[in-house]
Amino acid sequence: MMEVAKENMRQPAHLLIFPAPLQGHINAMLPLADALSFAGSLRVTFLNTDHNHRLLSFFSPSQYSRFSLRPNLRFLSIPDGLSDDKPRSAYQLTELFHSLRTHSVDSFRALLLAGGNKDRDGWPPVTCIIVDGLMPYFMDEAQALGIPVLAFRTISASSLWVYLQIPQMIEAGELPFPADADLDEHIKSVPAMEGFLRRRDLPSMCRKATKADDKELQLFTNFAASSTRSKGLIFNTSDSLEAPILSQIDSIFPTTYAVGPLHALVESITSSSVSASLLAEDRSALNWLDAQPYRSVVYVSFGSLARLTHEEFLEFWHGFVNSGHRFLWVVRPDLVAEGTAAVEMAGLEERVRLVAWAPQEAVLRHRAVGCFITHSGWNSTLESAAAGVPMVCWPWAWDQLVNSRLVGEVWKVGLDMKDVCKREMVESMVRAAMEGEKAEELRRKATDLAVEIRRSVGEGGDARLDFERLLRDILSLSL
Ligand code: UDX
Repeated sequence: MMEVAKENMRQPAHLLIFPAPLQGHINAMLPLADALSFAGSLRVTFLNTDHNHRLLSFFSPSQYSRFSLRPNLRFLSIPDGLSDDKPRSAYQLTELFHSLRTHSVDSFRALLLAGGNKDRDGWPPVTCIIVDGLMPYFMDEAQALGIPVLAFRTISASSLWVYLQIPQMIEAGELPFPADADLDEHIKSVPAMEGFLRRRDLPSMCRKATKADDKELQLFTNFAASSTRSKGLIFNTSDSLEAPILSQIDSIFPTTYAVGPLHALVESITSSSVSASLLAEDRSALNWLDAQPYRSVVYVSFGSLARLTHEEFLEFWHGFVNSGHRFLWVVRPDLVAEGTAAVEMAGLEERVRLVAWAPQEAVLRHRAVGCFITHSGWNSTLESAAAGVPMVCWPWAWDQLVNSRLVGEVWKVGLDMKDVCKREMVESMVRAAMEGEKAEELRRKATDLAVEIRRSVGEGGDARLDFERLLRDILSLSL
């Protein structure tokens, strides 16, 4: 085993951060790179795949040039092994991750070994790594080279806790369950969640699994377990959002850092926001919002990966139109899985705006936005919570089913309409989140939660203190 880190004990600390090559993962981990490099005591390399590096440089050039002003943060990239013309969307994820595992590990190792004492930019060797928990093979590679690794999970602590408990659920006979089981029945074998977690709220692969050794179930169980082999586990969350679950995780894996929401933390530390899009942001959405009344607009986005059937798309469309409210909807070019996303706009131009990709954080902070219809991806959930915007949740897959339950039943800042996609339901959910007493109550709770988040990421707050501890630990792991 080559002890790269120890051979270079007197070199300055150099942290490498490597997110999975997906929009939601880059959005979670880039603010951490920004905040850590801003602190000034270590150098930070943010590693992308070549494909995403090209897209980010093209669609977020101002962001990249801002970073280039900071001498201790840089971007590098390695190939993902797929040809350039290959799509990398939700339906190609298995292929993408297979390719990373089989083709990119060699490039990753070469990068860590490059240059001995100094690499081609004159940077010292990497002394610590933060790797996305979805890519344990890179963690293994770095550990084999003697470099300390921290795992970053982009999902909620609650979702990771559920994944960690899959073996216990199987042992307790709660998993798998038959296709005709009552989905509203509560799960009893997940500590700290007995009061609210139903079969319906389990990650999507739990619902599909018919046997205990189901491949997808095992895969996600293994991801969760492998994160606990690292020197520490970093979460994009905080005590203000998930304290009871974080203390459960602490009880089995004591070195955890709850430093989120990172987009809010970085803003509190550096006084500027970070965003990096793999698609072109349509900033005209903000001009359109400027012309709308206070809290009058329903913002709709299903994140970067979710896909709707044509039928679901139309049910949402009619539900929004029939609600009578103004809405801004992100219709990504690949949002509708089959058929087209064409709709009849005649007579609706005043109150409806469709865009291919929005500057979401800025949209959610806009005074014209009244509620957010979301697929409950963890970044979207955090961005909405930090902006104090009530949510209507329609989780699509994976961890999103757990997140929407947190929003609806634990924080009570939104409504959970998982599993239903009928225009009448969409309309009534939009009305409930926008009009009358229920809407007022959701808004009050959402405002309280946003205040709590601001406190938590601000000086002396729990997320800020965890961030400072993380920085100290990276420096001491780098010795
Ligand atoms: C998926 C998971 O479901 C999520 O929970 C996990 O943490 C990451 O992978 P995704 O579909 O990408 O996530 O959703 P989400 O986590 O919400 O991330 C989407 C990101 O894209 C958000 O940061 C959001 O601000 C951004 N976005 C989305 C835009 O900038 N513009 C848009 O128009 C839509």
